[in-house]
Amino acid sequence: MMDSSRTSTKLNNNIVMPLIGLGVYDMYEREAEQAVESALEIGYRLIDTASMYNNEKEIGNAIKNSGIKRDEIFITTKLNNTDHGYDQAMKAFDESLQKLQQDYIDLYLIHWPIKEGRKESWKALEKLYADKRVRAIGVANYTVPFLEELKSYASIIPAVNQIEFTPWLYQKDVLDQCKKQGTQLQSYSPLTRGIKFNDPRIIKLCKKYQRSPAQIILNWNIQLGVSAIPKSIKVERLQENFDATNFDLDLDDVIFMNSFNEGFRICDDPIQFL
Ligand SMILES: NC(=O)c1ccc[n+]([C@@H]2O[C@H](COP(=O)([O-])OP(=O)(O)OC[C@H]3O[C@@H](n4cnc5c(N)ncnc54)[C@H](OP(=O)(O)O)[C@@H]3O)[C@@H](O)[C@H]2O)c1
Repeated sequence: MMDSSRTSTKLNNNIVMPLIGLGVYDMYEREAEQAVESALEIGYRLIDTASMYNNEKEIGNAIKNSGIKRDEIFITTKLNNTDHGYDQAMKAFDESLQKLQQDYIDLYLIHWPIKEGRKESWKALEKLYADKRVRAIGVANYTVPFLEELKSYASIIPAVNQIEFTPWLYQKDVLDQCKKQGTQLQSYSPLTRGIKFNDPRIIKLCKKYQRSPAQIILNWNIQLGVSAIPKSIKVERLQENFDATNFDLDLDDVIFMNSFNEGFRICDDPIQFL
């Protein structure tokens, strides 16, 4: 049987979250439903969506149609940049809940640390948590200065921080800070959308372990204790990504991959919101 520490993690409020999930950015309508249905069939139990992705309804449909018990699936969604502020965040949460056709959300994240309103939005998330409408609350794109600022007014330490995190964007300072404060780090765009799959160092590791680039990169996350939410609409890739936990990179290779850091980004640098 698989070691559960490789497949799930306990958050700072003791709830369990799968380490590998399906990211559903840039998939719509029937394609989104199909991807989620396939992922759930394969065994994925974490689905990462956002109000911004305009597919919460389809994600909700797929979850309903799967027949899997609600408490076996971990649903993440996020507060959109246009919905910051206490009242707006409360309203946006209700809308997401309705689109997802759910009574509660497992994890609600602030999508980006927008300057105007991020403090009030966090207070709204704390209220949603106190009212048990969400099982955990967290943030995304919070680098160390944002985490420090949040601590100055938060009653609840974020359960999760979702950031862009790859060997080519090895944000060790954020990883260390999250470990120190008990926040689970989660990697988005973990596959660099395939852009770095031809890095000769990755190809060499693929040969050594007889694994694909996606599996090497996802396993690197797992070895560092980082959750990852790769996106795919293709069944064989969903399976390949899901199978990335069932081997071990040697520690030397993990450390080697840490050295690939070159500040390479797919998404915006949140520093603009400081
Ligand atoms: N919080 C944030 O600000 C934020 C920002 C960006 C993303 N995210 C989240 O993170 C998730 C993942 O990030 P992402 O979608 O940007 O990028 P990603 O997961 O790094 O890469 C997805 C791309 O790689 C392809 N792919 C997937 N598995 C593959 C495999 N095994 N082999 C070859 N190609 C593969 C996919 O194509 P196919 O679909 O055709 O397979 C897709 O084009 C998003 O879906 C979203 O949930 C969050």
